[in-house]
Amino acid sequence: MTLNGKVMVTGGAGYIGSHAVLALLDAGYQVVVVDNLVTGFDWAVDERAAFVNIAVEDPGVRDVIRAHDVKAIMHFAGSVVVPESVSDPLKYYRNNTAATRSLIESAVAEGVPHFIFSSTAATYGTPERVPIAEGDPKAPINPYGMSKLMTEFMLRDVSAAHPMNHCCLRYFNVAGADPEGRSGQSTVGATHLIKIAVEAATGKRDGVGVFGTDFETRDGTGVRDYIHVSDLAEAHVAALKLLVDRPGESHVLNCGYGRGFSVLEVLDAVDRVTNLTIERKLQGRRPGDPAELVADNSAILKTIDWTPKRDDLEGIVRDALAWERKLAERQG
Ligand code: UFG
Repeated sequence: MTLNGKVMVTGGAGYIGSHAVLALLDAGYQVVVVDNLVTGFDWAVDERAAFVNIAVEDPGVRDVIRAHDVKAIMHFAGSVVVPESVSDPLKYYRNNTAATRSLIESAVAEGVPHFIFSSTAATYGTPERVPIAEGDPKAPINPYGMSKLMTEFMLRDVSAAHPMNHCCLRYFNVAGADPEGRSGQSTVGATHLIKIAVEAATGKRDGVGVFGTDFETRDGTGVRDYIHVSDLAEAHVAALKLLVDRPGESHVLNCGYGRGFSVLEVLDAVDRVTNLTIERKLQGRRPGDPAELVADNSAILKTIDWTPKRDDLEGIVRDALAWERKLAERQG
């Protein structure tokens, strides 16, 4: 079945949202981006998409839904910095939970039938076992994870009460950039490992801190499941197809490749790709970091029509590096 209307992408001027916009446009969908540009950039929005500068909680979103004949919402807008969520929890419950409640209310009032939500592996907290499956305990250890989990619960209840179905995609560690160089991570003050490492490679930093060398992992450093942002974007398009084809069903799916790399393995890959030896500054653990987060991705592989194409750590680093160089040129 096809979608007889546009897809609204909130946060479409941000990192993951802008890649979803590209994946949707490349697949032939029409897109309207809703973004208030607090952390996003208008130049990150592909010119084939319509753009409205408005906050997701603004009741004017209902007019956007009507004017653009929106038949599905992909909701990326939100705050994403875990330590900040600890120091300013109300910002997270406002931007991620309350704002999303308003957006869902607009969607229900206008009869939008499909909703895809950016959730996170942070909903699991410190896992009892890895790989982590969707049914495993959800015990967030920070307000960021809790703010996202609360939205998952809202969507579950709303889909039961109204003619809407939804898919919550729980992202593991998203990295890389559009292989064609059309978008990438431009966030100022990013804290993510691969972003930090490519910043070091382009001279923006003088090295990379390794946060903890005494975890119970193969080399003592934290292990994560790094997924290429373009594969993740394509998973959203495939999830949308599923929601359209099966209107009565909603889903919660992990997004990862099902394998992990340690911090040192990531930094080795960065050294190989750049032909540099980036300085590693061994430090103590960062508060709240679990030893290992790896997705059990069997559910997503069998539920949606999606085959990851970029499960290659060096490729992820290469794309991130190419974007970082472009960004350096743009910023002079
Ligand atoms: N790390 C370093 N040095 C750095 C940055 C990170 O050693 O400069 C380490 C971390 O300690 C961790 C790994 O690299 O072991 C990955 O850290 P990131 O900050 O890149 O990502 P996180 O795993 O902490 O966070 C990700 C998402 C969050 C999400 C969280 C839990 O970015 O949004 O997973 O699911 F909440």
